[in-house]
Amino acid sequence: MNKVRVAVLASGSGSNLAALIAAAKDPAYPVEIALVVSDKERAFALERARAADIPTVWIGRKGHASRRAYDQAMVDVLMRHEIQWVALAGFMRIVTTTFLEAFPNRVVNIHPSLLPAFPGLDAQGQAFTYGVKVAGATVHFVDAGTDTGPIIAQRSAPVHLSDTEDELKARILSIEHELYPTALAAVVGGELVLQGRKVVPSR
Ligand code: GRF
Repeated sequence: MNKVRVAVLASGSGSNLAALIAAAKDPAYPVEIALVVSDKERAFALERARAADIPTVWIGRKGHASRRAYDQAMVDVLMRHEIQWVALAGFMRIVTTTFLEAFPNRVVNIHPSLLPAFPGLDAQGQAFTYGVKVAGATVHFVDAGTDTGPIIAQRSAPVHLSDTEDELKARILSIEHELYPTALAAVVGGELVLQGRKVVPSR
């Protein structure tokens, strides 16, 4: 099987990256995690990648005149590594159209809420404070907005009355680790396709 070369962009701990790396060990999984890029030199995600013998690149924010210049630097690196799709996993920068145009409809993200509720930062905290009874996670295509792209897959998580915010965060994160590998494989493998704003089975 010819696996599709995917780059993961991450700024933090990289637990979703770890879930994707684990899934990609299966020869039948359609994706190879071929590169991990971070804007944070000390992101634990980079260590996880090194431990899995995956090439890593740190692209610091300094030295880039604009967001677009930064994104162009990322595109150049990804092209050099012959990357076909991109998975954002806790990447704490908004990507510009410079980036999106280089990978049209081939950039996906995971967000820790049931979008369109609670886009942006600290989605779990927003949901907890709001008092929702059902929370969850969403994998979606990335467009130029903040967490506004077409939804690929969602999974809910109950909110218990006794929950602390940290307990809810942990429950959502463990759901993410199941949801992201499955959703990524479905779009990269062509089982799910974009139809306008909707993501639908290909046949
Ligand atoms: C996850 O909650 C993800 O949904 C959000 O950022 C967090 C990344 O966590 N986009 P990790 O670095 O994968 O552990």
